[in-house]
Formats: sequence, C-alpha cells, structure tokens
Amino acid sequence: MQKQKKIAPSLLAADFANLERDIKMVEQAGAHLLHYDVMDGHFVPNISIGIPVLKAVKRVATTPVDVHLMIENPGQYVDAFTNAGADYLTVHMEAAPHLHRVIQHIKSNGIKAGVALNPHTPLNTIEEILPELDLILLMSVNPGFGGQSFIANTLDKLKRLNYMLAERGLEHIEVEVDGGVKYGNISEVAAAGADILVSGSGIFKADDPVQMVKDMQIKLENITAYVY
Ligand code: DX5
Ligand code: ZN
Repeated sequence: MQKQKKIAPSLLAADFANLERDIKMVEQAGAHLLHYDVMDGHFVPNISIGIPVLKAVKRVATTPVDVHLMIENPGQYVDAFTNAGADYLTVHMEAAPHLHRVIQHIKSNGIKAGVALNPHTPLNTIEEILPELDLILLMSVNPGFGGQSFIANTLDKLKRLNYMLAERGLEHIEVEVDGGVKYGNISEVAAAGADILVSGSGIFKADDPVQMVKDMQIKLENITAYVY
C-alpha cells in the first residue's frame, strides 16, 4: 500500500526570533506537517521548547503540528500538549514504562498517537502495541540535537518495520524518520518505507528553504514503490 509521503520541517532549525515568518515560509512551500521537538535536559542532554511556544505556533500554523516529546514521564504532559494544540503526539518507548496507558490517553484526547524509537532500540519492543498506534517514529540520529549525520542502519530498520506492518495488515500506520534527512538522501529514506520525512537543517539551513521544500517534494513524488 502506498501512503502519501509527507515533508515535516523541524522547527528546531528555524529562526526562533522569526518563527511565524519561518512557519509561513515552509507552509507556503508545501510542507505537510510542522515537526516540533520538545527536549527536557533529562531524557536527552539538550533543552528546547515546550508548551507556551507550541500555543504560539498554533496561532499561526495552518498545517498540523507533529509534536515529538523527548522527555521523561511523557504521560504526565499528555493533556498539556493536547490542550496546547498538538495534532500528533509522539512519546519515546524508552521513556514510558507504561506505554500502553500513555498511548490510550493520547488517543482518548482525540489526537494521533505515536511512539518513537532510539537508534539502538529494537523494533520488537513495540510489537505488542502496534495495533494501537497511528504513527511510529524511527530516530535516525541519537535524539537531542539537530544537524547530525543520518545513521545508515535506519534504512534496514525501516524495511523491517514496513514488513512487520504489512504482515499484520497495519499498513495504515504512518512511519516517520527523524534526523539527518536531507535532499541527498530523502529518496533513499522514502523508498525504504518512510512516509513522513522530518528535516530540520536540511531545509532551514538551505540557501533557499522554499525551493528546498519544493525540490524534496518532487523527489517524493517520484518514489513509486517500497524496495523491501
Ligand atoms: C533530534 C530531533 C530532530 C531534529 C532533526 O533530536 O528530534 O527532529 O530537529 O534535525 P536535522 O534534520 O537537522 O537532523
Ligand atoms: Zn524530532
């Protein structure tokens, strides 16, 4: 089954002093989602943005906001991020010992529920919860910072994840890849089975971010089949 391939610029790489300008810029260029990275200085070494900034983003955004929580105790913040306007809410498997409960909580709030896996975390850790999910995010860098290099093993992991989903009739679940995705590798990542392609520095640090989103979109339109 071929799902729509989506581009999700990561606002972590945007100019925070000009967030509205940068949001409108990538939306007008054709971005499908806005990726919003929340870091707490505990689950990951860095601290980024949180609830008040999400509310501000939602005042100007016209595309759905895809919130990626890189925080400990994510279950404690589900209602706060829902109320701030998250359209997708993704928590890390490694940060949630009671993952099933957290996912049910997100879904009961009427928004899309996702689980993220660090590069070293095996796919089988989420096997029992797959049918509950709307989205699976595979980290293709170690979370915490933008601008890192894509970890090549993610391509094989993506293919195996797509196989797992196909085997179970769960192809409707969106597969997202986050970290080190750029113009040079976006086709390969999409062909391996990524539906949502997050790109931070690959878009916002490009000479012409608008043209970059359009060029990436053309590449995605030319992916015709998974290779697994
Ligand atoms: C990393 C974040 C990513 C990051 C991606 O911890 O989850 O979303 O913004 O940035 P790039 O595309 O620059 O690797
Ligand atoms: Zn992210």
